[in-house]
Amino acid sequence: MKLWVVLCVALLWVELQSGVCQQVKRRKDVGENRIRPGGKRVKTRHPKLKDGGGKGQSLLTQVLDKGRFLRLGPTMTLTPGRNMELRCKGNNIGWSYPTYLDTFNDSRLSIKQSDKYSQLILTSPSAADTGPYSCWVIVCDGTECEKDHDRIYVSYIYFTDKDNLFVPSAIHFEIVYLRPDRPAVVPCRVTDPQARASLHREVPPEEITANGTLVSFDPTKGFVLQNPSPELQGVFYCKAVTKGNPQISTKYQLLYVEVPSGPPYVSLESSPDSVRGGDNVNVTCTVLGEPEVDVGFTWSYPGQDHRPVDIQTSWRLVNRGMGYTTRVSQSVMTVEDMETIDFGNYVCKAKNQHGETSVTTAITAK
Ligand SMILES: *[C@@H]1O[C@H](CO)[C@@H](O)[C@H](O)[C@H]1NC(C)=O
Ligand SMILES: *[C@@H]1O[C@H](CO)[C@@H](O)[C@H](O)[C@H]1NC(C)=O
Ligand SMILES: *[C@@H]1O[C@H](CO)[C@@H](O)[C@H](O)[C@H]1NC(C)=O
Repeated sequence: MKLWVVLCVALLWVELQSGVCQQVKRRKDVGENRIRPGGKRVKTRHPKLKDGGGKGQSLLTQVLDKGRFLRLGPTMTLTPGRNMELRCKGNNIGWSYPTYLDTFNDSRLSIKQSDKYSQLILTSPSAADTGPYSCWVIVCDGTECEKDHDRIYVSYIYFTDKDNLFVPSAIHFEIVYLRPDRPAVVPCRVTDPQARASLHREVPPEEITANGTLVSFDPTKGFVLQNPSPELQGVFYCKAVTKGNPQISTKYQLLYVEVPSGPPYVSLESSPDSVRGGDNVNVTCTVLGEPEVDVGFTWSYPGQDHRPVDIQTSWRLVNRGMGYTTRVSQSVMTVEDMETIDFGNYVCKAKNQHGETSVTTAITAK
């Protein structure tokens, strides 16, 4: 039961982390909001590169004191506490910002569009607001509007806080899935691009050295593990140092997953094997798959629309030895007191984000 809770929270967190792009639309999500107000001054560093992406000069600027503007480059470092105002030129502008800000419908964030520009204001920013901020021009043809892909400007803004070297996380124990066919990310992002970070295994204590190929550190993402192997499973944490005291991140459980992505693998069986009129029958449809891939089931059966049946759908995680983790999703249809109309083909259709699979079993009268 506990694992379910952890997993659900982890999934939600993945969504919070990855759903970076949305327009002005605000979304409500569960989570934790840590605001660290303080009257600190804004410290700006000049960006390394000139442009935050897109064609020509960036239209994304930060409003400084006394009406001065700073054109934002790909990264920017600010001090938390002091309100941030960003502007993007144009009369129809879309924005994205860390989805964390949509948690609790955060009233610290406001967006206003005027004739000439759109304005994003974030009051009392904190380390947790570290992330990509982006604006783009929306072009309309009549009522059809779309993002102008040549005019998207992004700046990754660090709210550097010496007490929070890691971007605070609402989750204290996250699950990271390792797959043989793609990189995995241990998402210990930092609030200071200068911080030196290292990755550690808890038991046995061991530092995983980042050498730029198999393991590398990206301050905007965390540790990126290329072609992760089952040996990298276990409980890990990150450590970061700037000047002086090292800090420790939340913990990450790394789990290896061997099932390749694809439509569900489905098996279907009925019990008991042989059925007579009046028996109760369970038809069980089972899918083995990746831990975080949701599976939906639909049934068709002889007595459909004529007769009530009971359908129970559930899933659980199973450790299949060697630390391989599989999600077992199951839908069980129970037909009580079999009648003549109940004999025939039972079809289970299982669907995930990659496709669907149908399997059929025939229940015949003995
Ligand atoms: C979000 O906040 C705005 C302004 O504070 C309010 O008008 C709106 O109803 C809120 N939405 C939800 C879903 O709480
Ligand atoms: C990086 O480390 C991995 C494993 O620790 C090793 O196989 C690889 O050769 C190393 N690469 C470099 C460039 O040192
Ligand atoms: C059907 O499943 C239910 C719940 O798991 C179980 O109690 C029952 O004995 C099963 N019936 C048959 C005929 O397998």
